Amino acid sequence: MISSPIEEIKNRLDIVEVIQGYIKLHKAGVNYRAICPFHNEKKPSFFVSPVRQRWHCFGSCSEGGDIFKFVMKIEGLEFGDALRLLAQRAGVELKRQDPVLKTQRQRLYEICELACSFFQKQLKVSSLGKEARDYFLSRGIKEETIDNWRLGYAPDMWNSLSDFLISRGYIRQEVEKAGLALKSQKTGSYFDRFRGRIIFPIFDFNSQPIGFGARIFKQTKRADGQDESKYINTPATLLYDKSSVLYGLNRAGLEIRKKDASVLVEGYMDALMAHQAGYSNVVAVSGTALTSYQLKTLKRYSDNLLISFDMDLAGNSATKRGIDLAQEIGFNIRIVVMPEGSDPADVILKDPNEWQNLIEKTKTIHDFYFENALSKFDRNTLEGKKGISKILLPVIKRIPDKIEQSVWIQDLAKALLVKEEDVSEELRKITFGPGKEVMPEESNYISKDYCLSKSRKDLLEEFLLVLAVKSPGNLDLLKDQDYNLFSVRFCQIVKYFKEKGIGNRDSFPLGQEEFLNLIFTKAEIEQSDINPCQEFEKCFRDFKVLTIREKLAEISKKIKEAESENNYEMIKYLTNEFNSFSKFRCDLENA
Ligand code: CTP
Ligand code: MN
Repeated sequence: MISSPIEEIKNRLDIVEVIQGYIKLHKAGVNYRAICPFHNEKKPSFFVSPVRQRWHCFGSCSEGGDIFKFVMKIEGLEFGDALRLLAQRAGVELKRQDPVLKTQRQRLYEICELACSFFQKQLKVSSLGKEARDYFLSRGIKEETIDNWRLGYAPDMWNSLSDFLISRGYIRQEVEKAGLALKSQKTGSYFDRFRGRIIFPIFDFNSQPIGFGARIFKQTKRADGQDESKYINTPATLLYDKSSVLYGLNRAGLEIRKKDASVLVEGYMDALMAHQAGYSNVVAVSGTALTSYQLKTLKRYSDNLLISFDMDLAGNSATKRGIDLAQEIGFNIRIVVMPEGSDPADVILKDPNEWQNLIEKTKTIHDFYFENALSKFDRNTLEGKKGISKILLPVIKRIPDKIEQSVWIQDLAKALLVKEEDVSEELRKITFGPGKEVMPEESNYISKDYCLSKSRKDLLEEFLLVLAVKSPGNLDLLKDQDYNLFSVRFCQIVKYFKEKGIGNRDSFPLGQEEFLNLIFTKAEIEQSDINPCQEFEKCFRDFKVLTIREKLAEISKKIKEAESENNYEMIKYLTNEFNSFSKFRCDLENA
């Protein structure tokens, strides 16, 4: 009998493991329990039964179900999407055109993909696209870049794209939901959102188009005589959220890791030109203030960030807020100082070497802020001193590292010719109201999602640290060779614990304050009935098993690739590797 993919997935995945990827479960007899992730509660009333492979909350939400229901709820997915996600995790192949699987999301993906090729084709072959093509070329964009970034042209017609999509079997409402068409209030008929503009498709992490930026390329006036706005962008859709996307990240990720630094610019053109000139670690925000979601995404690639934004620090400029946020998240930040009045695209067009120069001559935030603030005011007057402090004090307040903060205080006192104590006194008066640091574009669900998407390995590392805080002797169990298994952050913190002692909460390593605060808080509230030593050993073992399992999955993927290339040498090598890791895993699991 052939089992359905759903059964197959249920057979292959263990509900405890899947749920554990999202929340922390505690063993309670034969079952596991946890604080319910679906409603607010203090006492854990959420149970998982490994025997029945089901979960249930006995608290006020009284929800329950199988592995699919859990993933749908926690990830906010429709059934088809949850199925695809779990199928991938389980390594179960799904038949392509199963209609049940076609969710709205998927249809929107298809629409965006079709629209993207439509725009590309218009740019390449239509006579109307010639002008647009010439515009790109005049801006220094090469043919190759046009192809790689799938740049396009939206004809100056009311329905060209919509009609094309309808002919491919989609309905007007869907085209609207994809952000590509609008409905007229008056007549109720639909028309294309992007008309007579050049198109920058915006891709998700898998290089699938999910939205578009559309720029005018010749001066046009609206019917009412006003200038057209320079860009029109996809609004928020099921797929596209401008505050979480980074333009170019799909192409920049690898290079950011390799160079161990990312460069943030403001415009699509800036990112394109940088990549074209060989600087492939550049990403752009899409016409929005930088959000902490975007920054956290970047931080997964590298802790080093170069910011090349418009240099206006007055008031609460986007640059300043971006720097503040990046600082809070713990980036090592350098500022690329642009020549007055030009942006990266201008600089690179004129001379790519000049961009290289700017990248090499970045400033620290310290120098950048001081030079900027001091150039704006006369520090010899009382007014000037006030203006300068107004820019610098909030910045200083945010510096997490006390030593670094103290250096800034000294420098500010020196610059203003006042006493250090007075600067410190003023600093104490500064408070940031609740929510103030949160960027307006940032919606709560995003930060929550980010939390929930922590991998099981992250959670285990976190828990190991909590247990180390509760019982420091645990750290002695870690051998030198074990450190290879852990993340850089974990190693950094263990080193810090070993050097400074675990009770020391004074000067956390830069960038780890938030995380360490979390660890200490968790250690405080962690149930006292667990035995930290036993638990540590158990978690550490789980951690090793998980790491090896990942390693095995990685190797089998490589084996498949090698098989498709008939690379027998490689297959043999990988198979050996696979076997030795399997043995390691068996030993561990039987230990
Ligand atoms: N932007 C927008 N809407 C506007 C203006 C700008 O969404 N009306 C966004 C776009 O994402 C743009 C970015 O802000 O890429 C930076 O703006 P700008 O520097 O004006 O645009 P560039 O793309 O750099 O275009 P160009 O340099 O060709 O003027
Ligand atoms: Mn620009």
